[in-house]
Amino acid sequence: MKTLIVYDSFYGNTEKIARAIGGAIAGEVKVLRPGEVNPADFKSVDLLIVGSPTQGGRPTKAIQDFLSKLPESVVKGINVASFDTRFSTKLVGIFGYAAGKIANSLKTKGGTLISPPEPFFVKGKEGPLKEGELERAAGWAKRILESKK
Ligand SMILES: Cc1cc2nc3c(=O)[nH]c(=O)nc-3n(C[C@H](O)[C@H](O)[C@H](O)COP(=O)(O)O)c2cc1C
Repeated sequence: MKTLIVYDSFYGNTEKIARAIGGAIAGEVKVLRPGEVNPADFKSVDLLIVGSPTQGGRPTKAIQDFLSKLPESVVKGINVASFDTRFSTKLVGIFGYAAGKIANSLKTKGGTLISPPEPFFVKGKEGPLKEGELERAAGWAKRILESKK
């Protein structure tokens, strides 16, 4: 199985989550920032996971650009999932979050969403992650693979 995880990260928290997810998935796994993805990385991908910090209720510009340029031919018919990092307070919830917007975009391009968008929580703007989030990320990865079967 070939998995591609594309993430952005300003302060390193989303990167840690992306790598924890990647480490829990068997087979060929690539964990890349949008600028590191080559067209060949999409070849024969079975699962595409996209993650971003939530900034202003949305994914970062790099992830938004990645999604808008992502060809439908890549996403159509493959399994997709999304995650984000965000504050653990509910106060900013009215703006929405990155993961839901990523999931909508992947679905619109024909991807099969195999999990609801998943949040991971940071304690402050620059982190750190809340305790247990890396373990939860690994567990989430294993669960979504189960649902894929
Ligand atoms: C400009 C900016 C806007 C942000 N907006 C939100 C927001 O709307 N909702 C939220 O929950 N967190 C928000 N945050 C907190 C980020 O989600 C947090 O910085 C991120 O999870 C850290 O991940 P990173 O280390 O991978 O960059 C914002 C942070 C920044 C810097």
